[in-house]
Amino acid sequence: MNIAVIGAGYVGLISSVCYAEIGHQVVGLDLDPDKIQKLNRFVSPIYEPGLEELLEKHITGGRLKFTDSYEEAIPMADVIVIAVGTPSQANGMADISFVEGAALSSIPYLKKQAVLVIKSTVPVGTGDHVEALIRDRISPDYGIEVVSNPEFLREGTAIYDTFHGDRIVIGANRDSAGETVRRLHEPLGIPIVMTDRRSSEMIKYASNAFLATKISFINEIANLCEMLDANVENVSEGMGLDKRIGNQFLKAGIGYGGSCFPKDTNALIQIAGNMQYDFELLRSVVKVNEKQQTGILRKAKAYYGSLQGLKFAVLGLAFKPNTDDMREAPSIRVIEQLVNEEAEVVAYDPVAMDKAPQWLHPATQYAGSWEEAIQDADGVFLLTDWEEFKQIDLRKLRSLMKRPAMFDGRNCFKLSAAESAGLDYVSVGRPAVR
Ligand code: UGA
Repeated sequence: MNIAVIGAGYVGLISSVCYAEIGHQVVGLDLDPDKIQKLNRFVSPIYEPGLEELLEKHITGGRLKFTDSYEEAIPMADVIVIAVGTPSQANGMADISFVEGAALSSIPYLKKQAVLVIKSTVPVGTGDHVEALIRDRISPDYGIEVVSNPEFLREGTAIYDTFHGDRIVIGANRDSAGETVRRLHEPLGIPIVMTDRRSSEMIKYASNAFLATKISFINEIANLCEMLDANVENVSEGMGLDKRIGNQFLKAGIGYGGSCFPKDTNALIQIAGNMQYDFELLRSVVKVNEKQQTGILRKAKAYYGSLQGLKFAVLGLAFKPNTDDMREAPSIRVIEQLVNEEAEVVAYDPVAMDKAPQWLHPATQYAGSWEEAIQDADGVFLLTDWEEFKQIDLRKLRSLMKRPAMFDGRNCFKLSAAESAGLDYVSVGRPAVR
């Protein structure tokens, strides 16, 4: 099939290379000419394992190209995939103006029977709205259809997830359009759920909101475990073996971040609010997450008394490992509060060092390695569970620090390892080691 993918952001790029990988002819479209130039030289604007290799393979192989011109990308396309951003507005609602813009800019070039697929995360009813925009501007003889096809990729494992996903959801109000999108995805060999368009739009929000709920739930259990001398890792394991609960997204930590959970939970609360429905549970999930992100500082204050004048290393800045994405990363709030407490902060991340300064308090200092960051530090905050940090030799770490204390927001180490290294170690939902 000939496919145009509008938006060379995270979702658009992964979709473009993966559609090419399963044999389709793909044109990626983005209005940023710098990005297009880079992509055509196989340089990705985002860090994602495996992405640049696939860019090179399919651009040189002739199955994939990038352009900033609608006129070039749309006329040949059987399927136009809209994968542009839907940022949060001040009230939490998703802003769909880029989706509308992509649909409207495509209209003059659409070929007959083209299918417009909305992959961006959009409020329930957006497909109907886009369909109405098209119907107002193009004759029904053209047979243009709008289909919802949300994505469930995780950053850092997005390419793997595309080929090993649990399901593909296709929401279409007419069978023929749904069938085209089904055929497009068939080579992936993943179970396909065919449903109506509004339900498909809801599946995306409901899935992310549910996963966020699991995380906030286990974080509250973790906080209770700390008070009751239980260990949340044992609790998660015991709960997760129950197939009805499942063992995923039960890892307690410093709270969820990223471009999806915070945005989508707030959007769903707002979607409910627009229907005069108070989504109480989800409001609590968001509140618990905010509390969790700074809980680590309360523990540090209890340990030191005051943080003023102390020097801290912050290891891990991205919202999770294997990405350089800083959006809603817990490191932003933690560092801001450390600086407000008049502490000195030296930060290090294996991949996010270029992006971090745009997001972090200007008083933040940066180090070239974890060893450099912890030199003479009074304490370490570990905020992202990068493999590099999990491999740290705690005895070496201890020897480089002024005061060997670690506040681990990701439970990267065994309690026994901290104990035998002689490290004061405060983690999440587990007894403190002193
Ligand atoms: C999430 C979903 O997992 C994807 O299915 C979805 O497609 C994507 O949002 C999206 O809507 O685009 P992502 O934000 O990339 O993917 O990252 P996750 O791996 O889900 O992690 C989200 C956050 O939850 C991270 O901050 C992570 O550290 C945290 N988390 C995750 C926990 O604290 N505990 C867990 O057990 C799992």
